[in-house]
Amino acid sequence: MTQTHLVVMGVAGCGKSTVGQMLQERLGWSLAEGDDFHPNSNVVKMSSGVPLTDEDRWPWLDSIVSWTAREDEAGRDTVVTCSALRRVYRDRLRAAPARTLFVHLHGAESVLAERLSARPGHFMPPSLLPSQLATLEQLDPDESGVVLDVIAPAPDLVEQAISRLCISPSNLSDKGIN
Ligand SMILES: Nc1ncnc2c1ncn2[C@@H]1O[C@H](COP(=O)(O)OP(=O)(O)O)[C@@H](O)[C@H]1O
Ligand SMILES: [Mg+2]
Repeated sequence: MTQTHLVVMGVAGCGKSTVGQMLQERLGWSLAEGDDFHPNSNVVKMSSGVPLTDEDRWPWLDSIVSWTAREDEAGRDTVVTCSALRRVYRDRLRAAPARTLFVHLHGAESVLAERLSARPGHFMPPSLLPSQLATLEQLDPDESGVVLDVIAPAPDLVEQAISRLCISPSNLSDKGIN
């Protein structure tokens, strides 16, 4: 069977970690937090409000792909959270084997800012939101994925992702989950 790899993407505070975790619980797939693959030098930069350069990002994206490839080889489907703001970053992530589908969580700037500032103890300060939004490139028509409005409750976003991406019942029943 061909594996499916979901990338839950979007700017800081859009709900990637929340929805990623729920997708993992709903589907029983392997989950990784993209943030966990950052080298310490990137975390230091982001904590001090300095946007990352592309040179900072390539090794990070490649680590995510390596993890996905290992899971794929073991026959496991995956969910990974990763901002994946630009097309070139998504192209890098699509280097993973099998099919990679993107779940882009997006919404009004006011909603995103509110979520970000309400979130306690995270290294990403709310001041980075404007630069994230300026960097964001929406999914192109040839990119497989969906855009979901984060105004909806997180459990609804999970169901929308599953139905709109046609994640098949056979995938679910293969894992003993319905
Ligand atoms: N759909 C949603 N509706 C309401 N609050 C949400 C939703 N998704 C996430 N949140 C809340 O918004 C904040 C940011 O979510 P988080 O998952 O940490 O975002 P990200 O991982 O993309 O930075 C958290 O406090 C989370 O509980
Ligand atoms: Mg997160």
